[in-house]
Amino acid sequence: MTSDFHYDFRGTRVFLTGGARGMGKGIAETFAEWGATIGVSDSNGAGAEDTARAIVARGGRATSHPIDVTDEASVQEALDAFCDSAGGVDLAINAAGVLSVHHVVNMDVAEWRRVLDVNATGTFIVARAAAGAMIDRRTPGSIACIASISAKKGSPGLAHYSASKFAVLGLVQSLARELGEHGIRVNAICPGTVHTQMIDDLAEGWAMSVEDMLDIQVQKRPQTPAEIALGIAGLHVNAAVTGQALNVDGGTVFH
Ligand SMILES: NC(=O)c1ccc[n+]([C@@H]2O[C@H](COP(=O)([O-])OP(=O)(O)OC[C@H]3O[C@@H](n4cnc5c(N)ncnc54)[C@H](O)[C@@H]3O)[C@@H](O)[C@H]2O)c1
Repeated sequence: MTSDFHYDFRGTRVFLTGGARGMGKGIAETFAEWGATIGVSDSNGAGAEDTARAIVARGGRATSHPIDVTDEASVQEALDAFCDSAGGVDLAINAAGVLSVHHVVNMDVAEWRRVLDVNATGTFIVARAAAGAMIDRRTPGSIACIASISAKKGSPGLAHYSASKFAVLGLVQSLARELGEHGIRVNAICPGTVHTQMIDDLAEGWAMSVEDMLDIQVQKRPQTPAEIALGIAGLHVNAAVTGQALNVDGGTVFH
């Protein structure tokens, strides 16, 4: 069984970043199928709009919001617009992210900063805005941050990416402790390989095939965005879970 399982998220308001393509798009579509109202945001505003439009065309509920997760004003504007239209936010999903492959001796500081800025600082900015909205509107919910198995192990060419994802786990644990008093829970998901453009870029950077990349997994197949959504949903509905990092990686990392 994979994505055949259906949650009932009618009435649940989900704000998601990185929804123009790849995993974020698939997660948005899956939560929409489960009945949630989705705010699809991305720096690719046209792509976010396409995702939202397709959801609405299939009978779902979605709005789109251009956003740059590294820009505080744009994050606040997008989240305010979504909360005003949907009446609040119950689940915020940080799926925006960037990756590049550079051996550390050749890595520009500018590239290190770009990856840390989007993946770590952007996640902080969105989580802070979402927590603020939940506190102000007295609608405590949960926040899910897409980290990676790179949050649990280093890999060649990914020092900046791995550092950014380790940072996400530190952020998640700290937010979980700080926001618990408001009834807000914060968790991370660590995907292994979901076949998106990011994975094609990684395979190219490592000069290997995606099939070879899957060889480190117990299951020799990529995870689907719907399977990542199932992980997020499980963390969201379980009121006893906060500060955790769930590996949805086909059996790659066991800690
Ligand atoms: N694909 C995988 O196997 C995999 C594995 C582990 C973790 N992840 C993580 O999952 C998330 C989604 O990855 P993906 O594979 O779908 O990547 P992707 O490159 O296909 O999509 C990333 C999306 O994020 C958006 N984005 C980038 N910078 C942004 C910014 N500053 N503000 C707003 N949006 C921005 C992009 O426009 C794009 O739509 C990322 O955080 C990635 O690190 C992916």
